[in-house]
Amino acid sequence: MSEVRFENVTRRFDTKNGHYESLQPITLRIPEGDFVAIVGPSGCGKTTLLRMAAGLDFPTTGGVIVGNKEVSGPGADRAVVFQQFALLPWKTVNENIAFGLKCRGVSAAKSADQVAHYVSLMRLSGHEQSYPHQLSGGMQQRVAIARSLILDPQLLLMDEPFGALDAQTRIEMQEELIRVTAERRRTVLFITHSVEEAVYLADRVVVMAGRPGRIREVIEVQSVRKDEGWDVKPVEDVMELESFVHLRTQVWRLLRDSGAAQPQADNRRKLSIAS
Ligand SMILES: Nc1ncnc2c1ncn2[C@@H]1O[C@H](COP(=O)(O)OP(=O)(O)O)[C@@H](O)[C@H]1O
Ligand SMILES: [Mg+2]
Repeated sequence: MSEVRFENVTRRFDTKNGHYESLQPITLRIPEGDFVAIVGPSGCGKTTLLRMAAGLDFPTTGGVIVGNKEVSGPGADRAVVFQQFALLPWKTVNENIAFGLKCRGVSAAKSADQVAHYVSLMRLSGHEQSYPHQLSGGMQQRVAIARSLILDPQLLLMDEPFGALDAQTRIEMQEELIRVTAERRRTVLFITHSVEEAVYLADRVVVMAGRPGRIREVIEVQSVRKDEGWDVKPVEDVMELESFVHLRTQVWRLLRDSGAAQPQADNRRKLSIAS
């Protein structure tokens, strides 16, 4: 049970200039097993929404429901991969990947096979005993992804997880991510700056606009995969498809429109905190 529902979610930040309403009421339903990508300009509230689903931040009004429970904090049913991967510097690659399982009481002997599987999946073979400082940024990021995937969470929350990867590794990781999550019908909420990545990975792309953050449109992408009759297809083949090109253009237009249609007026309302 990992349907996600944002219901009339707003978030107000109190700053030294007064209150800042960062989100207009957001209502979004992510059905169980769906892969949803969010794109939108910086500062439109993508990370805030993801943190709310993770239970690391809370709406000012409205509610976030995962499964049939209102989110009140982090939970074992959810795993988060942040842009800034926080690995444990004193632990090896293997130990970092096994860490979550260890916290759940799984012995190293028991988790060894699974750890080896994810090491190989994330192309980390040969680096099992390395420490994070001995790895490139891209490799550290793959350790962070492996550490989340190994927990096999019902809901996977990823905030620009592939940002530090080189182009080739990024494509490999995208394909693996579709495979892993489609196979197990996991629900994924995935934030990215890349329109191509969003359209390639997702069943649905949520296009947001900024100031205040709101949903511009939700675009169904699933149809491309269904029409073509495949689950995972090499990204370079997909990019050639007319349907892919069409969807990518549609998302780009929406992003551009949401910038142009919006006067650059700052909505930081200078309310007196005393009032
Ligand atoms: N802790 C905070 N205090 C004040 N403002 C914040 C805080 N966190 C986020 N914001 C503001 O809320 C808006 C949305 O932020 P964020 O969710 O990080 O956007 P995105 O991930 O889309 O770039 C931004 O304008 C940001 O400055
Ligand atoms: Mg962000």
